[in-house]
Amino acid sequence: MTQHDPDPQHSGHGHGPQHDHGRTAPHEAGHGPQQGHGHGHGHGHGHQHGTAGPGGAELAEVLDLDAEVLHSLLSEAVGHVHTLTADAPVRHILDLGSGTGTGTLALLGRFPGAEATAVDGSPEMLSRLESKAHTAGLAARLRTIEADLDTTWPAVATPDLVWASASLHHMADPAHTLTRILTTLRPGGLLAVLELDSFPTFLPHDLGIGTPGLEARCQALVTTGNVATMPTFGADWAPLLRKAGFTVELTRHLTTTIPAPISPSARRYAELTLTRVRDRLADQLDPEDRKTLDTLLDNTSPSGLIHRDDLTVQASRSLWVARRP
Ligand SMILES: C[S@@+](CC[C@H](N)C(=O)[O-])C[C@H]1O[C@@H](n2cnc3c(N)ncnc32)[C@H](O)[C@@H]1O
Repeated sequence: MTQHDPDPQHSGHGHGPQHDHGRTAPHEAGHGPQQGHGHGHGHGHGHQHGTAGPGGAELAEVLDLDAEVLHSLLSEAVGHVHTLTADAPVRHILDLGSGTGTGTLALLGRFPGAEATAVDGSPEMLSRLESKAHTAGLAARLRTIEADLDTTWPAVATPDLVWASASLHHMADPAHTLTRILTTLRPGGLLAVLELDSFPTFLPHDLGIGTPGLEARCQALVTTGNVATMPTFGADWAPLLRKAGFTVELTRHLTTTIPAPISPSARRYAELTLTRVRDRLADQLDPEDRKTLDTLLDNTSPSGLIHRDDLTVQASRSLWVARRP
């Protein structure tokens, strides 16, 4: 099914195709953002949101590992949102840039009376989400819509809650997207924005190979903005939210630490993340650090990640919950 933006005057970008994977419409169709930037999850620019390109399947795997390995962080974020919804029931949740559905599924679990619409530009991500929802017995409460949010605003029932995790910074014009979200939400409805502050980290300060402090040097390259594709780490979304007309009700810096020994999933998460760090920072890393990363990622090396029992996971996200007045 292909639909068109029902409300074109709100879109300064025209209206591209929107494919409705709609297995179940949660409600009757109602009414229902600068260059995009890559980040720790490895995206390039705003229009590159499929999983078909190089590394797409890997990105989907990283997103699924996020859900599994960082589940306590995610559930803390969802818990904060839940406490702010006490005034009115949440019946419809809209997940923008849902990916493989980490947020969608967690929210469906936390709000048992709600149905969700997941929107993403990547059909591969959406099919992965659909099959996970099916396995979890949640498919009947889910509708998926394939749409490029830079060009198409999907026709969805009015949401009580909009969730945007690691997706807003991909938008070509985040301020514009926030305005669209505001007018799509019901008055009093909530928008939750979750964004990465940095790459998750896994390594001890002294690895026994190379110069101690490898990950700290990688993080410094990322967070000081020296890496052109990741300028959004650590950005404060509150001013943009207020400018769009929201009232910011909660801002939290969420962190999680998983001690050694870590699970096989967490080890795989470390491998994929450090591969991305190496690929992203290749030109900027000191040659010795690059060599150390290569050694860590070499399963045949005795110092390789696969053989280490000193790995931990440290991850952080920032959460903003804002209300439409
Ligand atoms: C880093 S992933 C985050 C996925 C998920 N929200 C999560 O937290 O796991 C960003 C997602 O936004 C989607 N995306 C990026 N730009 C988009 C756009 N313009 N329209 C629709 N989806 C987009 C990508 O396809 C990808 O699935």
